[in-house]
Amino acid sequence: MASEEQNESTITQAPFGKTPDGREATLYTLTNKNGVTVKITNYGGIVASILAPDKAGNIEDIVLGYDQVYGYIPNDPYFGALIGRFGNRIAKGKFYLDGKEYTLATNNGPNHLHGGPAGFHTVFWDVEELPQQNALKLTYTSQDGEEGYPGTLTTTVVYTLTDDNSLLIAYEATTDKPTPVNLTNHSYFNLSAGKTQDVLSHVATIDADRYTVVDDSFIPTGELRPVADGPMDFTSPKVIGTEIEDVEGNGYDHNYVINDYDGSLKKIASVYEPTSGRVLEVESTLPGVQFYTGNFLNGSLTGKGGQVYIQRAGFCLETQDFPDAPNQPSFPNTILRPGEIYKATTVYSFSTREK
Ligand code: GAL
Repeated sequence: MASEEQNESTITQAPFGKTPDGREATLYTLTNKNGVTVKITNYGGIVASILAPDKAGNIEDIVLGYDQVYGYIPNDPYFGALIGRFGNRIAKGKFYLDGKEYTLATNNGPNHLHGGPAGFHTVFWDVEELPQQNALKLTYTSQDGEEGYPGTLTTTVVYTLTDDNSLLIAYEATTDKPTPVNLTNHSYFNLSAGKTQDVLSHVATIDADRYTVVDDSFIPTGELRPVADGPMDFTSPKVIGTEIEDVEGNGYDHNYVINDYDGSLKKIASVYEPTSGRVLEVESTLPGVQFYTGNFLNGSLTGKGGQVYIQRAGFCLETQDFPDAPNQPSFPNTILRPGEIYKATTVYSFSTREK
């Protein structure tokens, strides 16, 4: 099986079980010539598995999730999901746009989180296979008024698995009325493939000198605070667990302000796991990244292969615009207008190193 010339990139499909309303989900498997495999379902556009080699060549699954679609219903942690229309929080589910107030569905205390209870993570996406590029093109049309948002928003997300072991995610959206847009993917990584039950021994680097300070309902105050030398500082590699208890709140769950943001695709973060030698590098065109250490996981969910997801079993690097941007005039604009195209690209690359 592992002969050198055998490995061509392929796309296959298999049934992934039914949702409670009786719809069949499909699991698409992208494999590249190195045997790296990414599995994606049309339900929620969820990345259900990423199989990547460790330094000894063992190919194992490095994301949290479930073996069947029903595991993802409800998907309270948003494992692997596409998030839209607006990732992260919008304060009290309200915003003003062109002089009019809009009210969104709320699902996180008083706030709107990750597009609302029926956000993009809960819908069936149309999937087109693009075998030439080893890619899947997912499309979803969100109707005017969905979750309270104005305008019909058509979103496409292209997931490409490259032969240099990168998962490239290209987002595009257009609208017929002005509307906020902030798309992301909510994969939780554990680069040890679950051998370390939590991610506290992973070593993270984030190219951000500042982060957006939040209040106790996770809404930005507007302040961009220097990471200084404290627990928030990942400008040079740091073991995630070293200072996590000194972080305000419940662990890392903060939007980092990427240095020298100019909309170009550039490296924004990397994470290394010492026992497996696996390295995740993240590139993005976006101005922020939510570094979230799975603080709300508590051992009540059992995922793929019977793995119990304890607190901090995975970490997320959700590339994004800033939380609550529709209510924060000093933050980069997140309003998409008719005739414009929202575009964002994020690349997750998988490699290994000895030390
Ligand atoms: C993160 C968010 C957390 C939590 C999590 C889902 O993106 O920052 O506060 O809501 O999603 O459990």
